[in-house]
Amino acid sequence: MSSSSLPPLDLKNVQGDILTGGLPKKTETFYFFQIEPAYVRDFRTQLTQLLPLITTTAEVLNEQIPKITQSKKDAAEQGKAPRILEMSGVNIAFTHKGLILMGITDEIGDSAFDAGMLAGAAALGDKGTTSASGEFIPNWVPAFKHDIHGVILITGDRHETVDRKLAQIENIFCVGAHNALIHEVYRTVGDVRPGKEKGHEHFGFMDGISNPAVQDVTTNPFPGQETIPQGIVLLGREGDAPTIGTPPKPVTRPPWALDGSFLTFRYLFQLVPEFNSFLEHNPIPEVPDRELGSELLGARLVGRWKSGAPIDITPTQDDPDLGGTQIETTTSALLFPATRLIKTDALSRRTSNATTSRRIVRAGIAFGPEVTDVEKNGTLYGRGLLFAAYQSNLVNGFQFLQQSWANNTSFPPKKGTPGFDPIIGQAPDGGPRTMSGTNPNNQTTELYLPQEWVVPKGGEYFFSPSIPALKETFALAASKSEL
Ligand code: HEM
Repeated sequence: MSSSSLPPLDLKNVQGDILTGGLPKKTETFYFFQIEPAYVRDFRTQLTQLLPLITTTAEVLNEQIPKITQSKKDAAEQGKAPRILEMSGVNIAFTHKGLILMGITDEIGDSAFDAGMLAGAAALGDKGTTSASGEFIPNWVPAFKHDIHGVILITGDRHETVDRKLAQIENIFCVGAHNALIHEVYRTVGDVRPGKEKGHEHFGFMDGISNPAVQDVTTNPFPGQETIPQGIVLLGREGDAPTIGTPPKPVTRPPWALDGSFLTFRYLFQLVPEFNSFLEHNPIPEVPDRELGSELLGARLVGRWKSGAPIDITPTQDDPDLGGTQIETTTSALLFPATRLIKTDALSRRTSNATTSRRIVRAGIAFGPEVTDVEKNGTLYGRGLLFAAYQSNLVNGFQFLQQSWANNTSFPPKKGTPGFDPIIGQAPDGGPRTMSGTNPNNQTTELYLPQEWVVPKGGEYFFSPSIPALKETFALAASKSEL
């Protein structure tokens, strides 16, 4: 597949969750399934019935988003709250085990995908135990330690809409009947947080702002937003340069991989009361107002204030007018240690294409209840982030970000190295994590991070095929005898 000889990208061919920072949603269900080995052929035949339900990027950009924008505009003109529009979206993606079971065995060209996330959990820094036979078993919920063949993503304006859509999908695959073609391995439901926390993850920070713009897809990039080649996200497009093995050897993707993308899913729990208590007890000392000192520490750990305003543009206090729209516009983020993977952004502008290839498009959603006073002394209820991100290369993308940047005590490799990413960095064996640079007046002061506030409890790598691939390679026409 040579990207130069390809027709231009048709957004009707790309599943809708991939390029736009996620299907529009108030709620999203991730439905992980296994295909019944005895019914693989029937499953592939029934996929034809699912195809009309799949939401494409063209539908998201040309229908769903304009409808939402119009409804908000109308409401503003009438001085009313925007009407909630009934809306849903469906996408599907498969694991390597799922592809093999379906008999789709061409080498796709990504060793992380081929191995699956469970096999790489120790290298990602996830905690667990090693069995007598030397096998590493992460502390994940059991479902993610079993084989998963695929995931169906269903988004909607409310739970009822999603549940109705899911019932329709289960019906296609005869779930509940004795000849069910798939069975559910796990289901998890995310919800946009309520009220003014809308769009914020559970630690309270606005999330999903600094996704890259995609060449010829994002029409109005934000100021400072990097535009990346399509091939950083889509397989087979310009910028996709797959390699496999050590030393890396270039590989050719199979034709059906074109315009598909790899989805990383991580089931991340967040210890919110513990994180808040850490901030409360470690305010930046020079700030006279203790509460603001704590807020500043949080902002310096994340690289942004809770509103989303970048700390290097507004270093001493939050500026909600900048939140949500203002992308990192300078490279000084590197001075703020461990300013999350904003390091990536800063480096990418400073150096070269080498970091552009690390870009991912995030499309996750928060899950779990809001914190109340009952949890003053520590987390009692599970909550966190259903982290979902797309890229054309898992080894260069998510896996590299987690292993080589977030977990790396000496990144970036220069004087005054900050150390761990305080939000998602994982130390081996849960060992001590220290970082420097949180104090603006003394960049070398070390801060001890007593615990990991983000706890991975599962995850998997998936391939989200293009619509033509779903139609022509994954789905099978019913044979004459079945008609
Ligand atoms: C519960 C876990 C996580 C939380 C609470 C979290 C939170 C955030 C927040 C608040 C931002 C800044 C807002 C924005 O740029 O959208 C951000 C940015 C980002 N996060 Fe996360 N995140 C989490 C997990 C992850 C993971 C697992 C990865 C990948 C390994 C990741 C990769 C990124 C990237 C690439 C950016 C954008 C950085 C940039 O280019 O400026 N995040 N995250």
